[in-house]
Amino acid sequence: MPLPQAPRVRVLIVEDDTVDRIACRRAFAADRAHSFELLEAEHGEEGLERAVAERPDCILLDYNLPDLSGLEFIDRLDTALPGVIPVMMLTGADSAAVAAESMRRGARDYLVKDVDGHYLELLPGAIDRMLREQRLLDEKRRTEAELRESQSELRRLAAYQETIKEEERKRIAREIHDELGGLLTGIKAYISVAIERAQRDGREADPLLGETAGLAQTAIETVRRVISDLRPSVLDQLGVWPAVEWYTEQVAIRSGITTECRILPSAIATELDAERSTMVFRIAQEALTNVVRHAQATHASVLAEVVHGVLLLTVTDNGKGIEAGGLLSRDSWGILGMHERTRRFAGDLKVFGEPGQGTTLQLRLPLDQEQKQGQA
Ligand SMILES: Nc1ncnc2c1ncn2[C@@H]1O[C@H](COP(=O)(O)OP(=O)(O)OP(=O)(O)O)[C@@H](O)[C@H]1O
Ligand SMILES: [Mg+2]
Repeated sequence: MPLPQAPRVRVLIVEDDTVDRIACRRAFAADRAHSFELLEAEHGEEGLERAVAERPDCILLDYNLPDLSGLEFIDRLDTALPGVIPVMMLTGADSAAVAAESMRRGARDYLVKDVDGHYLELLPGAIDRMLREQRLLDEKRRTEAELRESQSELRRLAAYQETIKEEERKRIAREIHDELGGLLTGIKAYISVAIERAQRDGREADPLLGETAGLAQTAIETVRRVISDLRPSVLDQLGVWPAVEWYTEQVAIRSGITTECRILPSAIATELDAERSTMVFRIAQEALTNVVRHAQATHASVLAEVVHGVLLLTVTDNGKGIEAGGLLSRDSWGILGMHERTRRFAGDLKVFGEPGQGTTLQLRLPLDQEQKQGQA
């Protein structure tokens, strides 16, 4: 009797030699440590059918079958049930090459059938080993699938948060514009009226009024700057390329480094949808912000073009050059965010630098994909 705790193991033997099948059945029956259930198939096609229909725990496969070679069997099984059922090849005594080829093509193990039948004694242990390996493999596959799923969930979440962030920026920009911008313009207008009235009445206006008008003007300009930092209206009104050009000029004005922006006709002729426009603009913006913050550069340039259906956006500077460590820093989210934005549109982003030779950031955005998705 098998040990009570021994789990049942369903083994399919695909073997045309009746004597070998009977020998195997006897060997399994004599084994006390396992509870084997033997399924039998006389030829390859029958073996494949039983494998697919009955899903045994493992297969013992004779190499020489009347209808299929062992390798064909393995290939067909792998097409029908990839990696699900481990196969042990049973080969002749002088078949080392066959065994090696079988393993290369997907057999998990092999045993050499010797004339004395010693291999039958080795069979239970070999099956145990193979099933243990299969369990580890299943576990690994499951973990990998879970990891992939959680990565793709994180990507979706990051993309969703980007959208929310853009929407929120638009909303705040609109509110500041309508509420605060309107108020400040009103205040400035009242002050001007007060000054005018005083002058009309032949009085000198209180100098404080003049100063207040100046402060109100400064506040209006600050509000305008905050609004366009949040969401440049030029992006929504004129599109991505004027927005990139405008932003590049702003960088020069605010930081003092010289900038150049070249949008080639091939890029101008390309219509990007709203999401991709935002993505390209934000990448140019983050890249230029990095130049100002980290590069110690005196010059930065932006180039946009379309080559063979791929939009290329390149931002270069002549600064100190990004170090490899900069790309791995855990507190830096800018470049990581750019990668995420790019991946979402099936693009590719590279950032590389040479010490003292500046940094280059290049975005490649396939437009076929964009058009396909744009039409969807
Ligand atoms: N143009 C550049 N020249 C030199 N170093 C750079 C350049 N751009 C980025 N770096 C380096 O790479 C690091 C990572 O940049 P990243 O934009 O990811 O983060 P960050 O700018 O430090 O922070 P934030 O999350 O606010 O963007 C920077 O800290 C900096 O050291
Ligand atoms: Mg940054």
